[in-house]
Amino acid sequence: MNNAIHLPIFIIGFMGSGKTTLGKKLSRLADVPFIDLDQRIVETSGMSISDYFELHGENAFRDLEEKTLKSIAPDAGAFISTGGGAPCYRDNIDWMNRHGLTLYLDLNPKVILSRLITSDRSTRPLLSNMDDKQLLSYIHDKLEERSTFYKKARIHINPLKLSPKNMLELLVKETQ
Ligand code: S3P
Repeated sequence: MNNAIHLPIFIIGFMGSGKTTLGKKLSRLADVPFIDLDQRIVETSGMSISDYFELHGENAFRDLEEKTLKSIAPDAGAFISTGGGAPCYRDNIDWMNRHGLTLYLDLNPKVILSRLITSDRSTRPLLSNMDDKQLLSYIHDKLEERSTFYKKARIHINPLKLSPKNMLELLVKETQ
């Protein structure tokens, strides 16, 4: 699969949909760089996402997220995993569609819940104060609110139904 991916592929989807894990696997398989948007934000701000939210608030985070996203515009192949809210702010999703291929990891709320319930919620400021019951209705509502943006992605994939290898084959076809 060497050199098969020639443009940036932005992986989008709700928290817990596996964007980072999959992005790392795909970039290894395709032999292209991997960039994690949240990680970039941590590096540039010098603090964790949770600390950033606490210190500056969500609006400032969204502005920094947009600025960081738009500073990553490789004109070569790369996989870029984005935070769950990144495509839903201002024109970010349209910008991603213009600068590369967008891949939406489409999972239903129950699957997302099962993953988030067992994850460390303290690292996700939007979820850190929620109990399990609040979490399900939050996922439901937020997913509905965000789906207008997520649906603008060029490719929609249920990651439970396609192996990374098959996913890469599909992406390669799509980018030829
Ligand atoms: C967020 C998702 C997080 C992170 C921040 C906000 C969101 O990234 O960017 O906590 O608004 O959905 P992950 O989707 O990687 O958890």
